[in-house]
Amino acid sequence: MSNAYRSHACGDLRRTDAGTEVLLSGFVAAHRDHGGLVFLDLRDRSGLVQVVIDPTIAPEVHGTRVESVVRVAGVVVERAAGTVNPKIATGEVEVRATLVAVLSPADALPFQLDDENVDEALRIRHRALDLRRSDMTARLATRAHVTRIMRRYLEDRGFWDLETPVLTKSTPEGARDFLVPARLHPGAFYALPQSPQLFKQLYMMAGFERYYQIARCFRDEAQRADRQLEFTQLDIEMAFVERDEILELVEGLYARIWQETKGIELPVPFPRISWHDAIARYGTDKPDLRFAMEISDVTDAVRSSAFGVFAGAAAAGGVVRALACPGAASLSRKELDELMQFAKDWGGKGLAYLLLDAGEVRSPIAKFLTPAEIDGLREATGAAEGDAIFLAADSEAIVTRVLGALRPHLAQRFSLVDEAAYAFAFVVDFPLFQWDEDGKRWAAEHHMFTAPKREHEHLLATDPGAVLSEAYDFVCNGLEVASGSLRIHRADVQQTVFDTVGFSAEDAEARFGFLLRALRLGAPPHGGIAPGLDRTVMLLEHTENIRDVIAFPKIAGGFDPLTDAPTGVDATQLSDLGLALGPSKKA
Ligand code: AMO
Ligand code: AMP
Repeated sequence: MSNAYRSHACGDLRRTDAGTEVLLSGFVAAHRDHGGLVFLDLRDRSGLVQVVIDPTIAPEVHGTRVESVVRVAGVVVERAAGTVNPKIATGEVEVRATLVAVLSPADALPFQLDDENVDEALRIRHRALDLRRSDMTARLATRAHVTRIMRRYLEDRGFWDLETPVLTKSTPEGARDFLVPARLHPGAFYALPQSPQLFKQLYMMAGFERYYQIARCFRDEAQRADRQLEFTQLDIEMAFVERDEILELVEGLYARIWQETKGIELPVPFPRISWHDAIARYGTDKPDLRFAMEISDVTDAVRSSAFGVFAGAAAAGGVVRALACPGAASLSRKELDELMQFAKDWGGKGLAYLLLDAGEVRSPIAKFLTPAEIDGLREATGAAEGDAIFLAADSEAIVTRVLGALRPHLAQRFSLVDEAAYAFAFVVDFPLFQWDEDGKRWAAEHHMFTAPKREHEHLLATDPGAVLSEAYDFVCNGLEVASGSLRIHRADVQQTVFDTVGFSAEDAEARFGFLLRALRLGAPPHGGIAPGLDRTVMLLEHTENIRDVIAFPKIAGGFDPLTDAPTGVDATQLSDLGLALGPSKKA
């Protein structure tokens, strides 16, 4: 590094550089004016160094605001013993300036970089400033590091980095599409891709065998802490491949990422859990495995109980399931009421509990249970003295939802979660379809191109609900990190799946004709996966919110405080597109 701006990086200077003449450029991170001497902390990407300026050589430094950009020529000197700053890597030295030029003065700042309580919209509005915060810089640096590792890992294994169109046709990930009006075809629209799914399959049908892309995906769905309207996938597809090769590829990649970015050796192989087990034991297909607290089915133990809620649920074909929470016997009445409400918020009718407190069983329902039933519950849940047993009775779907939500909630409350831990796992053997109660039809659980397990193909027509698929998810700490599947590679199987979800041959041809045409011209067995980049960086950086790992995110309502997008357009743009606005529909 040596040009008209810099001979050295600020953060690199050490005691061994004492006596060296240096040229530095950067931001003024701090400005301390002692009249006869001005001290600047000069910051570039590498770090900070203190610069000491005699203002007679550059009187303008008196008024130079923080975050102005300056160039400094000077000499590195060792600091006197009492003035060493152990908090910064360059703290043993400072630079005595001989020349100072203000390259770009900053105005008064809209917020201070060390202020933790700045409104997020204001931070994003001034994102070029906000990204100078050391934590934000570190997160984006990690993001760049992760994509570098991903590329190297896949390139080393013969993957080709191939692009797919952004102006395209609706892709089938199940969210609402972003549409782009086609000026040359009034009334017609391109859709932005929800993922490169069908194009990566076409690459396999083209015989390219190993594809990857760091791909932007667009989904017009409600934003959440782990969801943005546009986000990034590491999109992967392979031909002539079996499921476990794809899982092992991802396992190796994530082990590499954690090792290189954090120095953590993840224990591989990651557990493989069947979808059915995940639902039964954790109440969710993205279990947080940093703590145990498994759900147990106690339907049989309370089937003939005198407690009507339990007996009734069992008689109606529902289930009774339980969680034993360590240490929860101490919960107050108020907290128990809150948990009851929590269960109701998740769709349950209530939450029964037994507190195993000092040899006693305290519970409003104890009077309905026989000692044998209570022993059965203790045994099934493995509850010990001091624990609480929580029980939900209802349809399997509702009990799963309630206990699936309660489990991490209780784990947080009782500090059972090791926040520094990473518990990765693959969830495999998803059902191919799920019943859509509103539409009264079967819908694809992953997407319509996912292959049924070969041994279940014969059930497609007769018992769709029983068909397991070759779909898998990759989860960590309760977050879905990636999702993928082996794909259908035969036009006849694809047609059967379309039939099952009630897609007529004409509908299928109209929407996915391009894929079906290719499928009929010879398609290798293929499959893939797509890890979310943003979520991966969230895990590495322990951020609660996806916006903190995205340089230029959208906030609530899909609004971008930086550019003010989305904005209206002028009348000629609309008329060029053959569009007219109807009465405005306020979101
Ligand atoms: P899926 O829709 O499950 O699968 O997405 C794969 C991964 O992408 C990430 N992700 C998101 N990240 C941030 N914001 C969002 N709105 C968002 N939606 C999804 C998640 C998720 O696990 N084409 C298939 C993959 C395949 O079958 O190969 C697909 O897109 O980390
Ligand atoms: P109730 O008979 O409605 O007064 O409820 C008695 C206890 O059973 C309360 O603690 C309720 O929260 C609990 N309860 C009610 N319905 C259910 C249910 N479906 N599953 C588990 N507990 C329930």
